[in-house]
Amino acid sequence: MTKKKIAVFISGKGSNLQSLIDAATENDFPGSINLVISDNSKASGLNHAHNNSIKCETIEYQKCINKEDFEQKILNKTMKENIDIICLAGFMRILSEKFIISFNGPIINIHPSLLPKYKGLNTHQRAIESGDRVAGCTVHYVTKNVDDGEIILQKSVPILPNDTVEDLAARVLKIEHEAYAEAIKKILN
Ligand code: GRF
Repeated sequence: MTKKKIAVFISGKGSNLQSLIDAATENDFPGSINLVISDNSKASGLNHAHNNSIKCETIEYQKCINKEDFEQKILNKTMKENIDIICLAGFMRILSEKFIISFNGPIINIHPSLLPKYKGLNTHQRAIESGDRVAGCTVHYVTKNVDDGEIILQKSVPILPNDTVEDLAARVLKIEHEAYAEAIKKILN
């Protein structure tokens, strides 16, 4: 099996990145993590890339001329590594339609809610405040509209009566780690 080359984009902790690194060690996983890109040089998730000898690049938005320049720099890195698929994992920048078209391959994202519910931020708080009994995560294709592309896979967990935002976030994050690898297998196999 020829493995597809995956780039993971992060801005923070990178626990989803680590789960993909782990998944990619399995023989039957259809991809390898070849590149990690962060827009934040202080992202602790970069350590996961370093510890696993994965090439990583930090491209700071503030150091670029404008959004086009920022995105072009990212595109150049992905082209240099012949990346086939981009996985956003807690990447806190919105990619333009131009970038999405120019990359010319799948770009997918993991979102901590059962889309189409709760696009954007503070998903767990909004789910608890709405009195929902179920929460979860969604892996979806990235389009120009945020958290809006075709859904690849969803996983759900219960919301328990006295859950805090932190309780729910931890429960959802755990299934995110299974969902992301499963979604990649689903689209690449
Ligand atoms: C995850 O909850 C993901 O769904 C969201 O950002 C968070 C990233 O967490 N898009 P981590 O950096 O992978 O730990």
